[in-house]
Amino acid sequence: MIFTATGLSAIRSGRTILHPTDVDIRPCERVGLVGASGSGKSTLGHALIDTLRAQGVRVAHVPQSPDEALDPLRSMDFHWCEAERALGLTHDASRQKKLITTLRIEGGDLHKRPWGWSRGMQQRFVIAMALIGTLDLLVMDEPTSALDPVVAADTMDLLDRYLTERQTAFLLITHDLGLAARRVARVIVMDDGRIVEDAPTEQFLLAPVTQAAKSLCAHRNWLELPC
Ligand SMILES: Nc1ncnc2c1ncn2[C@@H]1O[C@H](COP(=O)(O)OP(=O)(O)OP(=O)(O)O)[C@@H](O)[C@H]1O
Ligand SMILES: [Mg+2]
Repeated sequence: MIFTATGLSAIRSGRTILHPTDVDIRPCERVGLVGASGSGKSTLGHALIDTLRAQGVRVAHVPQSPDEALDPLRSMDFHWCEAERALGLTHDASRQKKLITTLRIEGGDLHKRPWGWSRGMQQRFVIAMALIGTLDLLVMDEPTSALDPVVAADTMDLLDRYLTERQTAFLLITHDLGLAARRVARVIVMDDGRIVEDAPTEQFLLAPVTQAAKSLCAHRNWLELPC
């Protein structure tokens, strides 16, 4: 079954920040959503999640900032149990241990509040929470922005493997074309609240069509970056 959302749009403070947009994602597909800062990537991500969830598609979200997912007054353990409750699951310590190990954040004290964890660990904790349930699609908004390049590549490798084993599709929102080039098969480009390009990754990188895509690709051979 293809995940299809049509007529996604958003108006904030009287301004259209997302013009009516349709998105299709195939099962197991890896899609990148790129564009300049403020082009509407996160807005489209939120609208897509809401619409697909309303259709019964199992979608998890890694928000752009851990602050969107973590209450500074609650312990990490509390957040984990809340996420399980929201999915109708009872607490499973072995599942928690497995996911914490998968994201390599065993050193974190779950009784502490977010500020007792480094930013990078918080980000990986939020990714681990997004993997608690069984998923059709994972939407990740700049999931490695707080991580150093080595840990970021490592985390993306782990995620890649984990999602491939479970045949889960993902949408990777990023302005890091090097990251997208390595991780996704198809790239969607946004500019000023609209999708302006949607192409296989290599085609997009080698022959961008629109000015927005050309600007993103300018002066770089992203396929040769080591990340
Ligand atoms: N609640 C809001 N009220 C008013 N304007 C908003 C609101 N949310 C987003 N915007 C505006 O909508 C536009 C798109 O924002 P969005 O966060 O989706 O961009 P983005 O592509 O994710 O940017 P970034 O790469 O910086 O994360 C921006 O101009 C932003 O200022
Ligand atoms: Mg954003």
